[in-house]
Amino acid sequence: MSSDALLSVVGVEKSFGGFQALRGVNLEVSKGGALGLVGPNGSGKTTLINIISGIYAPTAGKVRFGGQDVTGRLPHQMSHLGVNRTFQVPKPFGSLTVRQNVEVALGHSRRSGRKTDDILAFLDLAELADREAGSLNTAQQKLLDLGRALATDPQLLLVDELGAGLSPADLDLVAEKLNALRRDGITMLVVEHLMGFLGKVTDDVVVMNAGAEIFFGKLEAAAQDPKVVEVFLGG
Ligand SMILES: Nc1ncnc2c1ncn2[C@@H]1O[C@H](COP(=O)(O)OP(=O)(O)OP(=O)(O)O)[C@@H](O)[C@H]1O
Ligand SMILES: [Mg+2]
Repeated sequence: MSSDALLSVVGVEKSFGGFQALRGVNLEVSKGGALGLVGPNGSGKTTLINIISGIYAPTAGKVRFGGQDVTGRLPHQMSHLGVNRTFQVPKPFGSLTVRQNVEVALGHSRRSGRKTDDILAFLDLAELADREAGSLNTAQQKLLDLGRALATDPQLLLVDELGAGLSPADLDLVAEKLNALRRDGITMLVVEHLMGFLGKVTDDVVVMNAGAEIFFGKLEAAAQDPKVVEVFLGG
């Protein structure tokens, strides 16, 4: 592991019954960095985020965070250590207000110096604070899900397709928010299918296919890589 790695994933495998969803994934995210994670549907991106955030234990391999072996820690333990994530499909407490949703997350956090009002203002949700979360549109629900993750004051934020389903204007807004969080010192692993968005918020990308990484480097270089082209455009 390089000395500035905040997160290291080493040889991580995950099987569901007889199906091997991850086949030995290796990646590192340096402290303060933002790594993109790209790959076709079913290539294992969300499974990897589920393992790093503690929802699943890997079948083999290790997860290191801040130099510590955190393999198999549970989600609340990872959250207390400073790792939280957004969900590909956000599931806010629909009958609670926007404010209450963030407060619930704050209540579960041991770390937080963040305040609900600051989080809502940062995400442009202040005017919606007293609305039921179930009445929000897709973009607002995604921002609220990000707010729930921010309430735990993460050092490492795992972002799972925050851009999916957003309008171009909302995508630009969300990219700005992520970049502001990064300037604040939050390290990120960003799963995304939208390459324009990914280019705005990450330095380098890992490309996955069928549960293994096939490329690491600049997004522009990925688009020229024969293995990556093969996977995305088909043989
Ligand atoms: N809990 C589970 N039980 C069984 N199979 C699973 C489970 N979670 C994921 N899988 C399978 O593992 C593979 C990887 O799924 P995953 O959701 O990680 O893909 P993904 O890269 O995030 O795809 P997408 O881009 O569509 O979100 C898929 O074949 C999926 O069906
Ligand atoms: Mg996914």
